[in-house]
Amino acid sequence: MTVDIFGQDCSLRDATALADWNGAQIGVLAHAARTATHLGAVLEVAPDFALAQALKGLSLLMLGRRELLPAAREACAAARAACDTALPRERRYVDALEAWLAGQPSRAIAIMEEVLTLHPCDTLAMKLSHGIRFILGDARGMRASVERVLPAYASDHPGHGYLLGCHAFALEETGAYDRAEVTGRQALWTAPDDAWGLHAVAHVHDMTGNARAGLDWLEGREEAWSQCNNFRYHVWWHKALMHLDLGQIDDVLRLYDAEVRKDHTDDYRDIANATSLLMRLELEGIAVGHRWDELADLCENRTQDGSLIFADLHYLLGLLGGERKVAAHRLVARICADGSQTDSESAQRMANPGAAVAKGLEAFGEGDYGSAFSYLSKSRDSLHLAGGSHAQRDVFERMTIDAGLRAGRWAEAEALLEDRRSRRGGAEDNFALVRRNLIATAGNKGGPRSVPAE
Ligand SMILES: [Fe+2]
Repeated sequence: MTVDIFGQDCSLRDATALADWNGAQIGVLAHAARTATHLGAVLEVAPDFALAQALKGLSLLMLGRRELLPAAREACAAARAACDTALPRERRYVDALEAWLAGQPSRAIAIMEEVLTLHPCDTLAMKLSHGIRFILGDARGMRASVERVLPAYASDHPGHGYLLGCHAFALEETGAYDRAEVTGRQALWTAPDDAWGLHAVAHVHDMTGNARAGLDWLEGREEAWSQCNNFRYHVWWHKALMHLDLGQIDDVLRLYDAEVRKDHTDDYRDIANATSLLMRLELEGIAVGHRWDELADLCENRTQDGSLIFADLHYLLGLLGGERKVAAHRLVARICADGSQTDSESAQRMANPGAAVAKGLEAFGEGDYGSAFSYLSKSRDSLHLAGGSHAQRDVFERMTIDAGLRAGRWAEAEALLEDRRSRRGGAEDNFALVRRNLIATAGNKGGPRSVPAE
């Protein structure tokens, strides 16, 4: 038996494999591109290391792609077969993988929390609980989970900086913006490659309508995210959002082409970055050229996936932007059909908020803004169950508000702007200010029925 980088007993005996396992664990926390190489090296030397097999399976599930399910099941079978030589803590990761494969990611979270009760300094378990909660849209759970283990960490624990990064993000998502910013800065001082913590501070500036401060924060800190896997596209996306808020459209499009969409991948998170940025641009009346086309091609291939409603809704944005009405309708119908089943937590989210949001987005694409507003505003209170962050879901919030304005439902749209402001700690961005001016003009002139995009 050995001890890993986080001070946890480990059933690995081989020193080289242990070094790679430590590299894989830190890699998960840093969203590092090198993670898969380390994990592959561990499994090459020690294929009977159940914990690494379980991490492989859990990582595959996080990618939200149906075609990866067989590989995840294969990893799970290998992990289960290796459990005889695994430690009790390691076997719990296999249990978590089995629970998620059985359609119960919340059970996987509960198992990670059981690990943390006995092993609070198991930073990998903390990150997995955090990551799955993020996918399920459980911000309060993210915060409670981190704050439960924080007191157990010494300041020199190798996972401490990454833990602070997760704390910063959870604080931001629960509206504690001042504490989130300070904690995120501490995270980066402690772990210079903590891209998640760095990005939590970017979220703070987004939510508090301070794009200039956000750009100042990100400028010169590219090293923190240049080592990342595709998460780096997401940080660039945040930077592009800041330029958008400042009206610096040339910078937005430059970053979109050179960074956000540098590689035309079909990972759902990459698609989400791209489609939501293009949609936000179009809501401001900015022509985005042919940029929808390659996204729509990729999204057409994902309409029958059905792994995650968050992914589906962004595929739908891609199809609407690319004017692929048949494929968009096929996707909406599939979401509704999946939502009529109740055998998995994923299906429950297809039902609520998925079906209503999908119908609302489709109606928006057809120019039926009254229906769009009705569907989207109805699903607003449960939208967090679609997963992701406030900043990511804000594209749907923006479409809801603009649907209301385009449908002439001024008072209701204004109420949404008011609620959006209260959810942002009283701060307002330029998206909101433009709409407020429009509503004020409507009041003065008896109600013009146009918004910037029309
Ligand atoms: Fe983000």
